[in-house]
Formats: sequence, C-alpha cells, structure tokens
Amino acid sequence: MPFEEVKKVWMNGRLVDFADAKIHIFTHALHYGSGLFEGIRCYNTKNQGPAIFRLHDHTRRLYDSCKIYRMDIPIPPEQFEKACVDTVAANEFQDCYLRPVVYRGFYSLGVDPSKCPIDIVIGAWKWGKYLGPEALEHGVDVRVSSWNRMAPNTFPPLAKATGNYMNSILIRQEAAADGYAEGIALDVNGYVSEGSGENVFLVRDGRIFTPPLGASILAGITRSSIIKIARDFGLEVVEGLVPREMLYIADEVFFTGTAAEVTPIRSIDRVQIGNGKRGPITERIQKEFFAYIGGEIPDRYGWFTPVYAERAATARKPALVAR
Ligand SMILES: Cc1ncc(COP(=O)(O)O)c(C=O)c1O
Repeated sequence: MPFEEVKKVWMNGRLVDFADAKIHIFTHALHYGSGLFEGIRCYNTKNQGPAIFRLHDHTRRLYDSCKIYRMDIPIPPEQFEKACVDTVAANEFQDCYLRPVVYRGFYSLGVDPSKCPIDIVIGAWKWGKYLGPEALEHGVDVRVSSWNRMAPNTFPPLAKATGNYMNSILIRQEAAADGYAEGIALDVNGYVSEGSGENVFLVRDGRIFTPPLGASILAGITRSSIIKIARDFGLEVVEGLVPREMLYIADEVFFTGTAAEVTPIRSIDRVQIGNGKRGPITERIQKEFFAYIGGEIPDRYGWFTPVYAERAATARKPALVAR
C-alpha cells in the first residue's frame, strides 16, 4: 500500500507540512543506518478518547537506544513526549501509528558520526492491522527463517536501530517469497529469537514461554504488556531459551508487537500448531489486550497518555526548540 499523505510532520522542534518534510541526500543515517527509532500506537479508547499506548516506555526505550550509540537526544523526555502528542493532534488523528526517528544528520560522511547533528523527526499515519485483520482470529502461517538474528556484541538488539532492520528485511522478504506471512529467526546459537518485527510466545501445558533478552530480541513493549496481563491472570510465564523444535510441539504460538498486536500462529514450516486455530490461552490474552487498548476496561496499569487532556495540561509550556 503506498504511503498516504498526512498533514503535519514534527521535525527538530517544528510541525511542518508533509510536502516540506525532506532531508538531504548526504544525511549520515541514509548511508550508514545511524538512526534509532520507535513504533508507537495511539488508540481511540472508549474511556479516555485518543490516547498513546505506553508512551513513557517507548520514550525510555528510545533514550536507551540512543545511549547505546552515544547519542544525546537534544531535548528532555518530557518535551519529546509532548511532541508525540502534538503530532497526533496536528494531524487530527483519533488513532494512528507514530514513528519517531532520532538520527545522525547532514554534516560529513565519515563513518564516525560524532560531528553530525542529532536530528529528530516524528511522523504519524493511519496503520491498520499489520498482518491483516483475518490473522488476528485465524492466525498466520510462518516459517523458521534461514537468516539468524544478530550475534551478540555485533548489532545490539536492545537498541531499536534503523540499521538492524536490514536483517529484518532479509527475514521478511524470504518469508514472503515462499508464501508465508512472516519468518521466525533463530539466534546464532539456534534458539528461537523473534520475528522480523514481533516477539514470539509459546504455550505448552498451560505454561507460557518466551525467549529472554539474551536471545537477540528487541525488548518489546507489547511483550512486556502481555507478560504482565498473563501473570495477572495467574498464568506462569517463563522467559527462557526456547529450542527450535519446541515451536512445532507447542499447543499455541503467537506473535506480539506494536504493529502486529497479538497475532496467533497456526502453522510453522507447514507443521500445524495445536489444532491449527487460535488457542484458548492466546484468545484469552488477546481479548484482554484488545479490551485494554480499546479502553473498554479501566487503564489499571496507567499505560495510556490521553492526547487532548495532555495537550490541555501542557498548553502553557513554552514552544519546543530542539537545538
Ligand atoms: C525486531 C522486533 N522485535 C519485536 C518487536 C515488538 O516490539 P514492540 O512490542 O515494542 O512493538 C518489534 C517492533 O517494534 C521489532 O521490530
């Protein structure tokens, strides 16, 4: 689907028109992947209106990602969060996907980026169900990728870096070329890692398993939401190494992610998972998650930042200046 024009994009402290949201071709990040980013959803909740899901946690992960790459974001987290809220409001979105990127800008093209400016952009657009609306109920068919996730101490997976997504592209393209909705990559030791843009969970005998941070995964915000919801249901969640073959003999497998939300997996490498349909634990967790993000149940964990209430509260603060 081609990108549909939006009204405004936030660039270095200013909301600019879509047509003016341009960067130079000699931008460092274009050549070397020197950007760190987030993917955040704003939901039109029943109880709080348009509200950004887990904004503080996404903000923290973005600042952590930049710290790993020795990049000091030139605005404090509160200003960054206000900029996210302003971007949603400037586009008059009720629900949308937000894409902040902090990157090394235009100055010089040596590999050492230290003299290049640290630029920040925040875009927002309408993004439907990532793996298709059908997938949420019926599940998707996936393969184990022939590509591994990054080895430890190469590309740090805890940093959500633009360059890391070259690996994701290999996984996703290979899956698509072979007729699968998505790929699950193993880490370099052969343990289950994650999808190209999703974390993975398995259920066996009523217990839930998910790979640990040391298995070259991104520390997914949805992953942490699902762990919290499952544990509060009284379900056991084990964060531990998952051998590949455990995928095939699991009763249920599902993906989590800001884009994919909670998507059941019905087959892996053409091996049917459970009864080939969304399993009961997946369904229970998924329903609770959807009720939460839809604002049909109270925001008991304080995960939402309501867009318009937030704007009213910060309306008298000075305008943002990034640098
Ligand atoms: C590689 C990868 N793993 C996992 C996830 C899920 O993370 P989150 O739930 O924070 O979106 C994403 C999505 O950003 C991702 O790109």
